[in-house]
Amino acid sequence: MTPRAEVELRIELLDASDPAAMAAWHETFLASQRHERPFATPLMLEEMRARFVAGLEAQRYLAFSGLVGDEVATVGMCYLTMFDNLGQAYVEVQTRPELRGRGFGSRVLDHLEQVAGNHGRGVLLTEVTYPYDAPADGAGTPCAEFARRRGYTFGLGNVQRVLDLPVDEEALRRLVAEAEPHHPAYTFRQFVGPVPEDVIDSFASILGTLMTEAPTGEIDRETEVFDARRIRADEKVFEESGRTKFTTVALDEQGEVAAYSELVLPRHDPGRVYQWGTLARPQDRGRRLGLATKARNLLWAQRELGEATLVTFNAESNRHMIGVNERLGFRPVERVGEFQKRL
Ligand SMILES: CC(C)(COP(=O)(O)OP(=O)(O)OC[C@H]1O[C@@H](n2cnc3c(N)ncnc32)[C@H](O)[C@@H]1OP(=O)(O)O)[C@@H](O)C(=O)NCCC(=O)NCCS
Repeated sequence: MTPRAEVELRIELLDASDPAAMAAWHETFLASQRHERPFATPLMLEEMRARFVAGLEAQRYLAFSGLVGDEVATVGMCYLTMFDNLGQAYVEVQTRPELRGRGFGSRVLDHLEQVAGNHGRGVLLTEVTYPYDAPADGAGTPCAEFARRRGYTFGLGNVQRVLDLPVDEEALRRLVAEAEPHHPAYTFRQFVGPVPEDVIDSFASILGTLMTEAPTGEIDRETEVFDARRIRADEKVFEESGRTKFTTVALDEQGEVAAYSELVLPRHDPGRVYQWGTLARPQDRGRRLGLATKARNLLWAQRELGEATLVTFNAESNRHMIGVNERLGFRPVERVGEFQKRL
């Protein structure tokens, strides 16, 4: 291994509109993400590019390349939300597997911490993955220990689960039928792609609460600020990423969104489908709307999805949602720990 002091690492801000620079950045990102992780779910090149170049009002991505000569050894990213959670930043570093252990990851992480600090962010969040059979806080696994030695503390344990599609239709129908008597006053609506104009405001209200209504463990998190404008801007990036969303909503008697569930089909990552959020408003809980929207969405969308692996992430403490997922047949494959550091 080359001694740390001898190798010069240049850290440069990525210009994502430069195709060669973007491709080199992403190639390192992918190599690192997929190393010894058969169930890794990295964003694909077009998905990443679309986010980086979008110029969204609500989000900023600052990506960096750690270069040794012309080679991208390490990549880093600092993600800032601009409407909410203004005291924090998400940071992530990825080093090519064959170049790990040379101090590159530490140097890029130092740089990201400075960038976050310069933007007035005092709390840093990061995610680390480790095998399912590791402890919930990742103790003893290399990447979790890397984060811990740099001052990050474990805040929330999530588990990634997968399910092979299609699921038996009869089983899904039984779940829908079993839930139905609990919510006679609600109607269901389904759409592919953009949220229909007549429900977008109530959809935005519920969407912003997902990150705080789901368990947060020790992680500091505020409700996100969503409105129709932000949803439309995200939909544009989504389309440019080659992603299609399938949504089922439950509407209350006033026609407002009381619960929803979303599935995402990434065209640049064939064979994979993501289960995104499923949520019922607090006042509508206890009526099995979570189960109903999720099962109805899957029953409807899977006819379009063909054979694929459905991927989902849940906080370990989210017993209710995990119970629903287990009934659908999901199996656990990996852990994702959320870590936090105060500057
Ligand atoms: C965590 C990660 C970024 C570290 O990158 P790196 O370039 O190896 O970082 P460094 O060389 O600065 O530090 C690696 C640490 O692992 C040790 N190490 C030694 N050999 C190693 C090897 N072959 N591979 C990885 N780590 C090794 C180093 O000694 C160092 O230990 P220290 O914490 O006591 O200093 C890298 O393993 C990675 O890309 N992992 C996947 C993404 C991830 O988990 N990122 C962390 C959250 S942001």
